[in-house]
Amino acid sequence: MKDPEAFRRSAVDRLREEVPGKAIVAASGGIDSTAAALLAQEALGARSRALFIDTGLLRKGEVEFARGLFLKSHLDVEVIPASRRFLGALADVSDPEEKRRRVGTSFIRLFEEEAARFGASALVQGTIAPDWIESGGSLRDTIKTHHNVGGVPSDVRLKLVEPLRDLYKDEVRELATYLGIPQPERQPFPGPGLAVRVAGPVTPGRVEVVRMANAIVEEEVDRAIAQGAIARPWQYFAVLLPVRTVGVTGDNRVFGEAVSVRVVESQDAMTATSASLPPQLLRTIAERITRELSGVVTRVLYDITDKPPATIEWE
Ligand code: XMP
Repeated sequence: MKDPEAFRRSAVDRLREEVPGKAIVAASGGIDSTAAALLAQEALGARSRALFIDTGLLRKGEVEFARGLFLKSHLDVEVIPASRRFLGALADVSDPEEKRRRVGTSFIRLFEEEAARFGASALVQGTIAPDWIESGGSLRDTIKTHHNVGGVPSDVRLKLVEPLRDLYKDEVRELATYLGIPQPERQPFPGPGLAVRVAGPVTPGRVEVVRMANAIVEEEVDRAIAQGAIARPWQYFAVLLPVRTVGVTGDNRVFGEAVSVRVVESQDAMTATSASLPPQLLRTIAERITRELSGVVTRVLYDITDKPPATIEWE
């Protein structure tokens, strides 16, 4: 981005044109939506209301992280607790694309309700160019239904306003730096959240299990990074697999599920390589997951598949 100040000024002007009344603003805690929300806050002031939705599908500590980021960015955001709505909409859904559709629909219906309460007719989102290109907006076939684009139901009653829709990621980073948004190193996290990290049916219990397993993977990998034992991978996470597999606790045989640990190196997520981790790190992760989720997770696997042929996510 050659001139972030020029972009800021024209985006603010465009937002004022496109939103004659009030707007609600979707803030996910990511850099794209934080930048879009800051532009909307500047353009619309009290005519905008930014919302962070706690879907119940977030990683451990994510709500606190987002609150801190908003504070440091001087962005006013309300946290809306909505895990019952999202987990209800996803109850026992197993199909990956159906999960994405249900998450997308739940987001939009919630935004419509909040907009009605606020008297808003527009929704500002942080969609950037690769989001709609990958969702089949042009150039390519639909690769994945991103919750913020393809998962939006066709009968949406809000005018969608997307001030960053022509920007690519590196341009958004430059803009965000200019706007004073802190950018700690963070891994990408899919919009549909932990719903696509529990392969098979979504239940509150299974989501909680993968949240705990994922926190262990993050803690142990972060520790190894801090100790200089490994370089920071592109993504590192846990996936819960719907298999009944036997384990032993004391003298008893118990049936639990399996967790797959996925750690990949990548430049842009288009291709990826399974990371070669120190064996002791893998053992520590497996030992902690099976101990802290004793009887619930009886087996831990390490995914050694590259992309292609596999994708980074399991679903
Ligand atoms: P895949 O699994 O296709 O993922 O190799 C490529 C990158 O995209 C992320 N991802 C998503 N992000 N909504 C998102 O916002 C989604 O539905 C979604 N699915 C995958 C994934 O984490 C990886 O970084």
